[in-house]
Amino acid sequence: MLKRVELLNEWFFNDCFEPSMCDTMSVEGFLPVQLPHTNKELPYHYFDEKDFQFISCYKRLIEIPHLMDRQIVKLRFEGVMTFATIYFDGIKVGEHKGGYTPFECEISPSLLNESSASRHCLTVVVDSTERPDIPPFGGQIDYLTYGGIYREVSLDIYAPIYIQNAQIKTRDVLTQRPSIDTDIFVENTLHEASLNNLKIRLFDKKRNLVASFEQAVVLEPGSSVLKSTLESLEGVERWSLDVPNLYWLSIQLDDEFFETRIGFREAQFKPEGFYLNGERIQIRGLNRHQSWPYVGYAMPKRIQEKDADLLKFDLHLNLVRTSHYPQSIHFLNRCDEIGLLVFEEIPGWQHIGDVEWQHIAVNHVEEMILRDWNHPSIILWGVRINESADHHVFYEKTNACARKLDTSRQTGGVRCIENSELIEDVYTMNDFAHEGGTIALRDQQTVTKLTQKVPYMVTEYNGHMYPTKKYDNEERQMEHVLRHLRVQNAAYEDPYISGAIGWCAFDYNTHKDFGAGDRICYHGIMDMFRIKKFAAYAYKSQVSPQIEPILQPVTYWARGERSIGGILPLILLTNCDFVTVQFGDSEPIPVKRKAGTLESLPYPPIIIDDTDIPPSKLGEWGMKWEDGLIKGYVKDASVIEYPMSKAPVPSRLSVVADDLKLRTGAKDATRVIVSLLDQYDNVLPFADTDIHVQLKDTSRQFGRIQGPDHFSLKGGSFGFYVESYGLSGEGVIQITVCGGGFEVVLEVQVVN
Ligand code: GAL
Repeated sequence: MLKRVELLNEWFFNDCFEPSMCDTMSVEGFLPVQLPHTNKELPYHYFDEKDFQFISCYKRLIEIPHLMDRQIVKLRFEGVMTFATIYFDGIKVGEHKGGYTPFECEISPSLLNESSASRHCLTVVVDSTERPDIPPFGGQIDYLTYGGIYREVSLDIYAPIYIQNAQIKTRDVLTQRPSIDTDIFVENTLHEASLNNLKIRLFDKKRNLVASFEQAVVLEPGSSVLKSTLESLEGVERWSLDVPNLYWLSIQLDDEFFETRIGFREAQFKPEGFYLNGERIQIRGLNRHQSWPYVGYAMPKRIQEKDADLLKFDLHLNLVRTSHYPQSIHFLNRCDEIGLLVFEEIPGWQHIGDVEWQHIAVNHVEEMILRDWNHPSIILWGVRINESADHHVFYEKTNACARKLDTSRQTGGVRCIENSELIEDVYTMNDFAHEGGTIALRDQQTVTKLTQKVPYMVTEYNGHMYPTKKYDNEERQMEHVLRHLRVQNAAYEDPYISGAIGWCAFDYNTHKDFGAGDRICYHGIMDMFRIKKFAAYAYKSQVSPQIEPILQPVTYWARGERSIGGILPLILLTNCDFVTVQFGDSEPIPVKRKAGTLESLPYPPIIIDDTDIPPSKLGEWGMKWEDGLIKGYVKDASVIEYPMSKAPVPSRLSVVADDLKLRTGAKDATRVIVSLLDQYDNVLPFADTDIHVQLKDTSRQFGRIQGPDHFSLKGGSFGFYVESYGLSGEGVIQITVCGGGFEVVLEVQVVN
């Protein structure tokens, strides 16, 4: 590419489409919008999922820079939901089926006035209905796909001989002399062969040159693949979970430029587990839907990246499954940067359509891999429709497509049936065997019915088996926690299970046919704002206390919240060696982990029962209730403490933004969490206080609050997102949050 112009701002949107809109430059009746954009903002819950299923129209005037002889112009769309038709000055230049993969439209020279820069009208007709001819539709799916141009668009200028893509494969990574094999996909649009100069350079992340290669190449007209190798790269550092070293590979073909980030790592599923750089890593992951309240999928880069950070640094997971579709490039880039493994899969849910539909699904395999093959974080391609039945012909095709494009990665494909035909390299199974009893997971032979062991991973568990709201009662939350712990424990226990990926990270809006009836599936271990439920600490506590000491008692610390009363058994999600529990002024009582309890986990919970502390020391029914203080010790040092109030009252309104600085130039956003806290800064777990969010008048030119400015807390907390506009200059968005007699002022700066 010679030049990329981001087309994020200055779009116009109309939620009604008429064919005549394609022929005119007029945007009368259209609303100015920025990308990422959702075709319909929705309530938090209790809405009709038909609300966003309509055909809409987007327009943008675009300036094509002055083009040199025979340069090529393409429009690139990262994601439009679900069927897009593109018109350039009224002429149809492309269409695309499927909302989760990118596509490009070339603008032919006859449509351009090549002699000078010129203004043109781009019209995108977006059909966001659930068209049964396009995956994932045709059946009924347990998620919403929303609508609109919800990812980025750019205008890309190429030389007449240009680099379409490049696949970089690292080799001999575990030796002292790793190599890189580079396949460069070149298009020569001229009618004669051409002599060009190819230059490949490898830089480390500080942009120091590590290796380079230069050669004259003859390019015949049409498509060709240039293969080259950078050998014996002594001293390059591996990409790993703890130190995710990244390098830049830059390819130049005369003035044409292609650059991608890569990592040196070897990833392989074997029957005896998953190996990264030769070391067995037990996979501990969650499934992620890429959706948020109100705006659906249309969140900018920062928010996409934030999810990866939450999964890696807050929950201490090592893998995310992009259920059930390819997700934002910003999310994947961030996974590369922070060392979070990714299992990426094609769009679909249980239903397989006719041959045409299957053809589109195979295209989706191709589009996903062509977009993402250089991400070191991606370790497995999911090439089946999630939880569909076996389909030999179709899955032979999806597997063949993946294997042809990428010999460096294995395939998986998520099923939920036993004895399913294994065409993939890894048997990836949604195992919902755990119903709260003693069976947590099936062993692989029970599932596969094969006589031999195969690479095997559990890709979902829990979810609909035990939906739990953040504000559900303590006993339900306890069981929710235990179910996540039991399944993870079973996965750790079985050497032939590479790991387990829970359903799921965040609650999500869904169809009426699923979820709690309010169009939410409460299957997350966090809510839709990514606020933690207790079960989040089942994962978070599995990290070494040297990285972060964790201590989360699974209790609201109240005498009468549970049936019959009391707080025993009390689960402490902790990575500490032992704890002390103090009731009021009484002597702290030390409690250790009991042998035999979920002991395959890196850090089993400490579960306190009446053999550790007699109920009489914890305030039996009718006795005075007291403050609680739990302290966690590593070796003999106290590293963390958790005080709880005997008589909590609202003491503070906490209003915390993830980021206090947003960027100008393009739409940006940050999350704000509002919580009502007691004297010890614990969330008041049943507070449903009314909250009012106000923007200063002058702030409105810089941004807005997504969703309503009035809401009530749910389970003591709730969230909102502050969005800055793409076009405005530098300024401050001042937000006043009032509720429960408190007022907090928050200032979010918008800076260049
Ligand atoms: C699975 C499905 C997920 C979700 C989950 C709920 O069957 O793959 O998308 O619906 O159930 O537990």
